[in-house]
Amino acid sequence: MDTDLSLEFLRVVEQAAIACAHTMGQGDRHKSDQVAVEAMRRVMDTVPIDGTIVIGEGERDQAPMLYIGEKVGMPHARRPPDGGSFPQVDIAVDPLEGTNLCATGAANAIAVLAASNGGGLLHAPDLYMEKLVVGPSSRDHVSLDAPVHENLKAIAGCLGRHVEDLVVIVLERERHAKLIEDIRATGARIRLIGDGDLSAGIAAAVVGSGVHAVMGTGGAPEGVLTAAAMRCLNGEIFARLVVSKPEHEERCRAMGISDFTKVYRARDLAPGERIIFAATGVTDGTLMRGVRFFGDGIRTSSLIMQNEPHQIRFVDSIHVSEPDVKIRF
Ligand code: FBP
Repeated sequence: MDTDLSLEFLRVVEQAAIACAHTMGQGDRHKSDQVAVEAMRRVMDTVPIDGTIVIGEGERDQAPMLYIGEKVGMPHARRPPDGGSFPQVDIAVDPLEGTNLCATGAANAIAVLAASNGGGLLHAPDLYMEKLVVGPSSRDHVSLDAPVHENLKAIAGCLGRHVEDLVVIVLERERHAKLIEDIRATGARIRLIGDGDLSAGIAAAVVGSGVHAVMGTGGAPEGVLTAAAMRCLNGEIFARLVVSKPEHEERCRAMGISDFTKVYRARDLAPGERIIFAATGVTDGTLMRGVRFFGDGIRTSSLIMQNEPHQIRFVDSIHVSEPDVKIRF
C-alpha cells in the first residue's frame, strides 16, 4: 500500500453516504443499509487495489455483497492495464453505521471503512465486545478491568478536570443498567445513545468534541473499525470479545481466535503498518455534518485519516451535477 489511496477511499464512503442519505427518516433501516452497500460495492471496484473484505456485511451465504472474503477493487472488475499489479489491501467496511439512526433521521449515522496492508485488521467474528474508548492523554492510565470510578478518576486527572465535568457515551441498552448506575454514582455526565458506538469512539479521541470516553458492550466489527481510527488519532480502545456460548467459541476458532479472554488494544485489533480510515456523515453528527442536497449539487462532510504519513483531514466536498452550478460557502 505505497500509493496514497486515501482520496480513492474518500470517494467510496462519500457515495455510500449520499445513497443512503436519500432514505433518511423513511423508517426503513434495511433499505437504508441496502442502498449504502450497493453504492459502496459499485465504487469500490473503481479503486486501484487488489482488495479483500475482512469485515463486512456477513458471511458469503448471508450477504450478497461486501461479504467476508469477497474480492473488490479494479482488478476484479476489469483486467489490470499492462498486466500491472495493484496493492493488496484488507478492508473493513460498515456502509451504514447506525442503520436506525438513518432510518429515523437521528444524529451520527456514518458511512465508514478502514483499509490496511494484508493482515492489518483482525478478522473479528460478529459477536459483542466489551469496550472502553479514550483519547490520547489517558490511554496509558485506564484498564478494561478497573472499576468505573477508578477509570473516570484517571481520565479526569489526565484531562485536568473534575470527574463531574466528564461526558461518557453509553449505548442505551438493558445490559448497561449497572454500568450507567456506576457512572452516575461518580457524578460524571452521561450521553445515552440509541446506536453508533463507532462515531462515539472517534469523538472520544478528538479533543474539543465534548466526549471523553465510551463505555459498554457493542459490536466487535465496530470495535475493529474504532481501533483503526484510534491508530490514526492516537486514542485507545480496550476490548474483549463476549464469548458466552459454545457457538461463540466455534465462531472465534473459525477466525483463528483461541484466547477468548484477551483484552485487545488498538494495535491488536488493527495491527497494520499502514492504516487508512475514511468516514462520511450521513446525518448531522458531532464531527461531521450529514449529506445536504441542494437541487443541482450535493455537499458531504468526511474524515479521512492515515497513520503513515500521519494525516487527519476533514474534507468538505461539493458534488456538482450541473456545469454552471453556483457554489455557496
Ligand atoms: P447497525 O449500524 O448495524 O444498526 O449497528 C449500530 C450499533 O449501534 C453499533 O454502533 C453498535 O456497536 C451495535 O449496533 C450495538 O448492537 P446492539 O444494537 O445489538 O446493541
